[in-house]
Amino acid sequence: TTAPVIFKGLAGVPVDYTAVSKVNPETNSLLYRGYPVQELAASCTFEEVAYLLWYGELPDDTQLAAFEDRERALRGLDHEVKRIIDELPLTAHPMDVVRTAVSVIGASDPATPDDSPEANLDKAIRLFAKLPSIVAYDQRRRHELEFVEPRDDLGYSANFLWQAFGEAPELEVVTAFDVSMILYAEHSFNASTFTARVITSTLSDLYSAVTGAIGALKGPLHGGANEAVMHTFDEIGAGPGGAERAVAWLDEALASKRKIMGFGHRVYKNGDSRVPTMRDSMERMVEHYDRPDLLELYVALEQAMGERKNIKPNLDYPAGPAYHLMGFDTLTFTPLFVASRITGWTAHIMEQAAANALIRPLSVYSGVDERHVPAKG
Ligand code: CMC
Repeated sequence: TTAPVIFKGLAGVPVDYTAVSKVNPETNSLLYRGYPVQELAASCTFEEVAYLLWYGELPDDTQLAAFEDRERALRGLDHEVKRIIDELPLTAHPMDVVRTAVSVIGASDPATPDDSPEANLDKAIRLFAKLPSIVAYDQRRRHELEFVEPRDDLGYSANFLWQAFGEAPELEVVTAFDVSMILYAEHSFNASTFTARVITSTLSDLYSAVTGAIGALKGPLHGGANEAVMHTFDEIGAGPGGAERAVAWLDEALASKRKIMGFGHRVYKNGDSRVPTMRDSMERMVEHYDRPDLLELYVALEQAMGERKNIKPNLDYPAGPAYHLMGFDTLTFTPLFVASRITGWTAHIMEQAAANALIRPLSVYSGVDERHVPAKG
């Protein structure tokens, strides 16, 4: 008998069609519904991109206005969700808090079992609208600050920053944040999206699929990397001499076989298509907050990683320091990723549901040979 072929980590294995996005590592491009992500980041708001991912087309003015009204009306948090978040210890990781809050919303929604496309879109928009409240509420409670009510006169990103910090945000910061949301929104069959599709394939509900996706995103090989990048920066220490310290830190980390967070990618082997756009936004934040030392460290580590390993940064590398500069707690970075990726996840959940096949791969048994329980007595 020939040895079975194992596709460890499903690397290089296409498992289904998708019309949501296309990743092309050869041309270093990422298209959402056909549009290059860089063009979307330059000309659209995150609301328009969310609409595009769900409906397949960019909205016209009337459609956008209606969609924005719908989203703005859903931004608040029920007392029940706040109460359950309050029950969680302050030591809980914010990803665990977000996962729990989504679970509570699902448990309370009478439409949870309704898997019609309309009901699922409704749930997707509800989570999209409420995640900023959840993330901001949790960050603020850790600082013993009150919940900031959402404002329906602000766009998604401006309102998110308002709810997180309780101050009207500056336009430059809003733009950089919005760009990050657009870039994080969708990336084909990554681990968390695939998780959401696996759960959906059993005919489970959208909230369960999203809860599972959050669990998959938390890990440092996936979304947890943006948080981990900031821990690296903290270990090295920004400020004078940061560039030299970065190189020394890297040599030591590589010598002890550590994975350098924010570098490398399963699909892109020659650089992540989203990095130049996010790097540009991060540099704007460096200027805005006057932190050239952070950029020096960033450049030094990237350059040294290129020289030592020829491995390029992924989106989490510029996103981490950008969120730090905006004032987010490091532990909140991956929940920000959730707030964005809810759009891509739910687009995939609806696509999976519309042309479902149970996802159930095979395994090759490698344990002990068949044996029998000895007779007793
Ligand atoms: N630091 C050090 N070495 C690395 C890294 C890294 N970040 N990435 C890859 N390598 C090495 C790896 O050790 C291996 O070397 P060797 O062949 O000598 O064993 C080689 O490059 C191939 O790596 P791999 O781990 O087999 O490749 P993969 O496709 O399984 O890994 C990855 C992709 C993202 C898991 C990996 O690059 C990694 O662990 N990166 C750090 C975590 C990270 O930044 N994740 C975010 C991913 S992108 C955005 C997102 O989802 O949030």
